[in-house]
Amino acid sequence: MESLRGRDFISLKDFSPEELWYLLETAKNLKVQRKRGVDTPHLKGKTLGMIFTKASTRTRVSFEVGMYQLGGYALFLSAEATQIKRGEPIADTARVLSRYLDGIMIRTFKHQDVLDLAAEADIPVINGLTDLLHPCQALADMLTVYEKKGKLRGVKIAYIGDGNNVAHSLLYAAAKFGMEITVASPSHYLPAEEVVKEARMIAAQTQGEIVITSDPQRAAKDAEVIYTDVWASMGQETEREERIKAFQGYQVNTDLLKVAAPGAIIMHCLPAHRGEEITEEVFEGEQSVVFDQAENRLHLQKAILASIL
Ligand code: CP
Ligand code: NVA
Repeated sequence: MESLRGRDFISLKDFSPEELWYLLETAKNLKVQRKRGVDTPHLKGKTLGMIFTKASTRTRVSFEVGMYQLGGYALFLSAEATQIKRGEPIADTARVLSRYLDGIMIRTFKHQDVLDLAAEADIPVINGLTDLLHPCQALADMLTVYEKKGKLRGVKIAYIGDGNNVAHSLLYAAAKFGMEITVASPSHYLPAEEVVKEARMIAAQTQGEIVITSDPQRAAKDAEVIYTDVWASMGQETEREERIKAFQGYQVNTDLLKVAAPGAIIMHCLPAHRGEEITEEVFEGEQSVVFDQAENRLHLQKAILASIL
C-alpha cells in the first residue's frame, strides 16, 4: 500500500482503518506463506536497528526473526552498549543511524523520545513500547481476535486492570476497527484522559464504543474477549506493593469468566504474573489464547516491516 511506505509506526491513531486492515491482511498472508515454507525476501539487503532501554523477550526476538525471514538483517542495540547511555542526544543518534540503517525499532520509557527520534531520523521509526503506548502489541492482538472471532466490528472486548500502555493502544485499535471496548481500572489507574478522548472521537466515526469504568464485572459482562496485563509495568517496580493492594478485585479469574460471553477468549500480552492479574487456572485454561498472541507479534510485525521499510 503506497500510503504506508516510509511511514513511522508510532501510534495506531495515525493510521486509517483501511491501512490497519491492510496490515492485518498482509500479516495473514505472511503467516500462511511461513507455514507453507514459501520464501518472502521483501526486505533483501535492508537493515533494522533495534534500540532497547527496557527488557524484552517477545519484541526483540520477533523483530529480529521477522527481519531474517524477510531476507533482511536486524541489529540489537542495547542502550548500555551504545553512546545513548552516556548521553549522546537522541537527535544525533537519529541522524547517525539514518546513514546506516533502513529502519529503527525502539523500546524505551518516554514516549516523547520516540517522537523526537522520528522527527530527526530520515528512516521509518517503529514504536516497540513506550510508557504511553504499545502499538505493535495491540495490532497483533487484533489479528488474534480476527482469527478467533472471524470479525472485528462490533466485537465486545473487556480490558481489566491497569490503564497502561497496552490499554491505551487497545483503545485506539478497538476504536479504529469499530469494536466495543470497556476498560475497568481502579479510579487512580484509569487510562489517560487524552487517549480516551481521542479514541472516542475515532469510535464516533467507526460505530465503535468506548466505556471506562471501575467495575470489572460490568466490563466482563457478555464480553467476547477478556484482556489483562501486569499491574506494575516496567519502570514502576517501586510501586509494586501499593499497586497490588489497589488492584485487588481486578483479577481475571473463573468468577469473572462466568459473566463473559460463552466461548470468550482470554488475552494477555505477556509476561504474566500468575496469582496477580490472572489466575493460573485461567491462564492455562482452554479459553486462553496468550501464546497465539505472542506468535502473531511475529507475523504482524513482518507486515509492518515489509510495508513501511
Ligand atoms: N508483550 C511484549 O511486548 O513482550 P516483551 O516485553 O517480552 O517484548
Ligand atoms: N505494560 C507492560 C507491558 C509489557 C509488554 C509494561 O510496560 O511493562
